[in-house]
Amino acid sequence: MSVIKAINIKKVYGGGKEFAQTIALNNINIELEQGEFTAIMGPSGSGKSSLLNVLSGFDYPTSGDVFIQGAKMNEMTGDELAIFRRDHIGYIFQEFHLLDSLTIQQNIMLPMMLNREETELMNKKAEELMNLLGILTIKNKYPYQVSGGQQQRAAICRALINDTTVIFADEPTGNLDSKSSKAVLECLKETNEAYRTTILLVTHDPFAASYCDKVLFLKDGTLRTQLYKKESQDHFTKQILDNLAVLEEDDYDV
Ligand SMILES: Nc1ncnc2c1ncn2[C@@H]1O[C@H](COP(=O)(O)OP(=O)(O)OP(=O)(O)O)[C@@H](O)[C@H]1O
Ligand SMILES: [Mg+2]
Repeated sequence: MSVIKAINIKKVYGGGKEFAQTIALNNINIELEQGEFTAIMGPSGSGKSSLLNVLSGFDYPTSGDVFIQGAKMNEMTGDELAIFRRDHIGYIFQEFHLLDSLTIQQNIMLPMMLNREETELMNKKAEELMNLLGILTIKNKYPYQVSGGQQQRAAICRALINDTTVIFADEPTGNLDSKSSKAVLECLKETNEAYRTTILLVTHDPFAASYCDKVLFLKDGTLRTQLYKKESQDHFTKQILDNLAVLEEDDYDV
């Protein structure tokens, strides 16, 4: 069974009296298996965030079906979605979204706290994850006392704490300098390898995308090409750059 499956997804915004209609996604089909680490790239406005929002249950598609681990998300109510997301889906934002009133460790444990899990188990799991991602030493600090890269690594731990099998990340390195970006990407790769987490990452950065095994290119709401990493990461970065150039050239055909 695939972890993420989307069939004929369409997303249309607006169309009322005041707003013109925008077709953000047009007949998208995606199927990702457990342990796949995939990037989505494409120009600004091509529908990347819309796609992530629909696949992760933050938003409903206008038409089409979305399945996460076989569960049909687009037929769930808002409450059902919230619970399903908490237990199965991790989401990482560009702006980290940690709570300043909680320590790093408390932030990480928050999804378990909401499920009223036992303290001992929460501490054990949080420490295991913080250890894996190299932030154990900052566990008692507050988000404003640590670096952006450390905050993002805490956000990854929080996304994983409920034994999440799928993680969506929208520009997770967009607010980070190159050194912190690298650390965060290496953490995502480590997570992917250690827990076979399925990860779908939106990025503008070919270097970030080169950490993935596969890159999907989106343009004007449709999936255009797919690239697979077959050789080294450096070689893959070059291939990604070439494909982005081809995608831009398409504009001149119109
Ligand atoms: N809530 C909304 N209401 C109306 N239109 C929207 C909404 N969200 C996105 N759009 C439109 O849908 C299209 C796709 O937007 P989306 O945010 O998915 O693009 P993106 O690829 O994530 O862009 P970026 O790289 O700039 O983040 C754009 O034309 C955008 O203006
Ligand atoms: Mg976006």
